[in-house]
Amino acid sequence: MAKRSLSGIKPTGAPHLGNYLGMIRPAIELQDSYDAFYFVADYHALTSTHDRAAMRAATYDATAIFLAFGLDPERSVFWRQSDTPGVTELTWVLSCMTSMGHLERAHAYKAARDRGEAGAINHGVFSYPVLMAADILMYDSDVVPVGKDQVQHIEMARDMAQRFNHTFGDTLKLPVPSMKEEVQTIIGTDGQKMSKSYDNTIPVFLPPKKLRKKLMAIQTDSKGMEEPKDPDTCNVFTLYKLFADADQVAQMRENYTGGNYGYGHAKQALFEVMDGHLAPYRETYLTLRADEDQLEDVLRDGARRAREVGGAVLERVREAVGLGGR
Ligand code: TRP
Repeated sequence: MAKRSLSGIKPTGAPHLGNYLGMIRPAIELQDSYDAFYFVADYHALTSTHDRAAMRAATYDATAIFLAFGLDPERSVFWRQSDTPGVTELTWVLSCMTSMGHLERAHAYKAARDRGEAGAINHGVFSYPVLMAADILMYDSDVVPVGKDQVQHIEMARDMAQRFNHTFGDTLKLPVPSMKEEVQTIIGTDGQKMSKSYDNTIPVFLPPKKLRKKLMAIQTDSKGMEEPKDPDTCNVFTLYKLFADADQVAQMRENYTGGNYGYGHAKQALFEVMDGHLAPYRETYLTLRADEDQLEDVLRDGARRAREVGGAVLERVREAVGLGGR
């Protein structure tokens, strides 16, 4: 039987190029060789989104994005996390085997504590890694394609599975993360890591005009048009490399070092190569996004198939710990 690849996308805000290159594209590539299980993590979004319209819209956005980039709902399983509520039961079981100290080491919580906000964050934020472990362990996942920032969570899932198996006997499968080194830490328009929290993202499906405007606002140094420029320290060039082919990259390098080539030119070239790559997907996305009934059908069918697999694992867990009757 094919090994299983599993991942989740949190429906908060518009998915950006960091999400696309770091997770969405690698995850979709895996559907050729793995039994792919991907879902919209709306329970996770609830830790920060308290607006029903925004939640629903972002869930459909994420679904249409996966389909537009080639997720095949016949071969692969794509669903909405909250349509498999059994995962919250597994979360509870794992919670009862996870120490507070362990959760206090999670990055998101540590960051909140460093800002002096530990007492203000909701409990969902604190127990976020447990729900995420349940997501992964519920489906006997083998690999979890994620961006670098999520690797710690997968290690925590492994720890929880190990502790469970040690206590109750071999029940849960240990997953491994799958990371694409070359696309880790995509930079944003300000040169820092692209992240919603830095407000420097480039959403994948911006209309061309807005995309162009975003790219024109990328920070560069203040070298004048005639001066030679250093491609390797330039944010524009860094993004260009992700979309251009080898010849284009070599040519651009020469443009930089040769002088008489301004950042405006480089940004225009970046826009052209990026828009060229994204435009066909964007069109598909817009068509898919306009039909929420069809997206609902995909999500419901996915949930039905996810529940079959997840239900069996949950039964194993209940049996192992002695919940429910004989
Ligand atoms: N926490 C992930 C993120 O913010 C989303 C997610 C939720 C996830 N559950 C998951 C990713 C399970 C991989 C596996 O990006």
